[in-house]
Amino acid sequence: MKIRPALALEAGRLAFIAQSQPMSAHWGEKGMAGEIANASARVWCWEENGEVLGFLALRLAADVCEILNLAVLPQACRKGIGYGLLSYALNDVRKSGGRTVTLEVNVHNLPAISLYTKAGLKELGRRAKFYDGKDDALIMGICL
Ligand SMILES: CC(C)(COP(=O)(O)OP(=O)(O)OC[C@H]1O[C@@H](n2cnc3c(N)ncnc32)[C@H](O)[C@@H]1OP(=O)(O)O)[C@@H](O)C(=O)NCCC(=O)NCCS
Repeated sequence: MKIRPALALEAGRLAFIAQSQPMSAHWGEKGMAGEIANASARVWCWEENGEVLGFLALRLAADVCEILNLAVLPQACRKGIGYGLLSYALNDVRKSGGRTVTLEVNVHNLPAISLYTKAGLKELGRRAKFYDGKDDALIMGICL
């Protein structure tokens, strides 16, 4: 297993993983490629036996980081990949001088909320009807 930066040629694979999960941000291949190429972004992927099973994308500007997307293939869930990617990303952001990390998560997305809570993020607020004018978003964050 290894965690490493995603490559431009993996944009299609990462878009496939994002789209395999209803609760992730459904970036297409083009959007994913744009993110991988963006100098303010970091896209990490989890590779096992030559296969990418999950990814996490964030942006870091000055000392403020926002986690934008995170998904693990359904058949690879509950094996520590999500927590591994998140812990690695938080550590990398800290080493790069990031001091605050925030994200938005659907209030009904209990697996992700549980994951973020396990990693030490706390609920900071809420955006009403943020997702398709229906579900609220929780804003969660951590100071590093
Ligand atoms: C959220 C997600 C990334 C978790 O990935 P994962 O690899 O399954 O997570 P892990 O195996 O590392 O689990 C870490 C913790 O997450 C939480 N968790 C993960 N899946 C869970 C589930 N189905 N139910 C409840 N808690 C869950 C638990 O707290 C777990 O810790 P534990 O094993 O000590 O109980 C994955 O479920 C996913 O891709 N979901 C869809 C996309 C998504 O919601 N992205 C986040 C958008 S904000």
